[in-house]
Amino acid sequence: MNGDSMTYLVTGGAGFIGSHLTEALLARGDSVVVLDDLSTGDRANLAAVMNHPRLRFVRGSVLDAELVADLTGRCGAVVHLAAAVGVRLIVEQPLKSFVTNIRGTENVIAAAHRHHRPLLLASTSEIYGKNGAGPVDENADRILGQTGIARWSYSTAKAVDEILALAHHREFGLPVAVVRLFNTVGPRQSPAYGMVIPRLVRQALAGEPLTVHGDGRQRRCFAHVADVVDALLKVLDHPGAVGGIFNVGTGEETSIAELAARIVARTQSPSPVVLVPYEQVYASGFEDMERRVPDTTRLRELTGWAPRFGLDEILDSTIAEMRRRGTDAPGVPRPAPADLAYLPRA
Ligand SMILES: NC(=O)c1ccc[n+]([C@@H]2O[C@H](COP(=O)([O-])OP(=O)(O)OC[C@H]3O[C@@H](n4cnc5c(N)ncnc54)[C@H](O)[C@@H]3O)[C@@H](O)[C@H]2O)c1
Repeated sequence: MNGDSMTYLVTGGAGFIGSHLTEALLARGDSVVVLDDLSTGDRANLAAVMNHPRLRFVRGSVLDAELVADLTGRCGAVVHLAAAVGVRLIVEQPLKSFVTNIRGTENVIAAAHRHHRPLLLASTSEIYGKNGAGPVDENADRILGQTGIARWSYSTAKAVDEILALAHHREFGLPVAVVRLFNTVGPRQSPAYGMVIPRLVRQALAGEPLTVHGDGRQRRCFAHVADVVDALLKVLDHPGAVGGIFNVGTGEETSIAELAARIVARTQSPSPVVLVPYEQVYASGFEDMERRVPDTTRLRELTGWAPRFGLDEILDSTIAEMRRRGTDAPGVPRPAPADLAYLPRA
């Protein structure tokens, strides 16, 4: 991986993080081929660059091994972001999510191996499962619940992806780096699939109750997508990153109840905040973790990366974008009737 201008294949490039990465690569002079099936992504996410001469958009699936191999052969490096993402989607479509996240990645790794292309693989903090011990570094244990709980199948699929990718590095010299992304937020993130900040912001702006799942004491850190993209570029460009795993996230912790209160204050919404038991939101057997905080020492020491945006700036940019697009705009779906069923009755 190096800093020379080249063509990147970005799978999932019409998604939230992928579209920001695509813009950043184009802005620095690289060319981008986006492969996206638009399942959770949206062409509108690429609106600002859709006619860019160095962008090619291909609607297709990472499950199409031939297509992936063909596009990989035409590019100099691959960033694999395509995945079934979001707690809600994973819980509601466990089989489809599992297949996409394992077979799709297998296809991408096989293509990178065949053409010997550098690969940056997007993994997740879900890897750590229920390990809530302080800031977790990349060597922290994975603590998972039973296989029957859909959430852990996402974690397991991403773990298989990491294992496959790193085994290709060790056994065949494939230049691979893995980034474990913690909660990432900012403009273009859809509230439709269980992402907490866009969902709460939408509720606040629509004057609906902000629904906090569980007891609201679960603690999280949120990184701005611009900082995450900066981390991806730094890992892509650093030769020392090859063969490594890197946490990407911020250390500014908040409970979800505090987060909801902060969103109410910053939107000046009249909405109340209500606690909703997990059983009423997800199918039975949902599990959450108390605390998730990254230790990003490894990334900082290698690349000098440090996040620039704090939580208030993240909230303000999400609020501003949703005000601009409206809470009914495409990509900002209203809750299905089933969502409303769990609101406390007046
Ligand atoms: N957003 C976060 O907080 C977060 C946290 C940890 C990890 N990640 C990882 O980052 C990556 C990007 O996530 P995101 O938040 O931008 O979500 P996203 O849903 O916006 O992006 C995923 C993209 O992949 C596309 N996609 C899904 N299945 C596909 C398939 N079979 N073929 C081609 N394209 C397909 C979707 O249409 C979408 O554009 C994912 O790999 C995800 O696991 C994200």
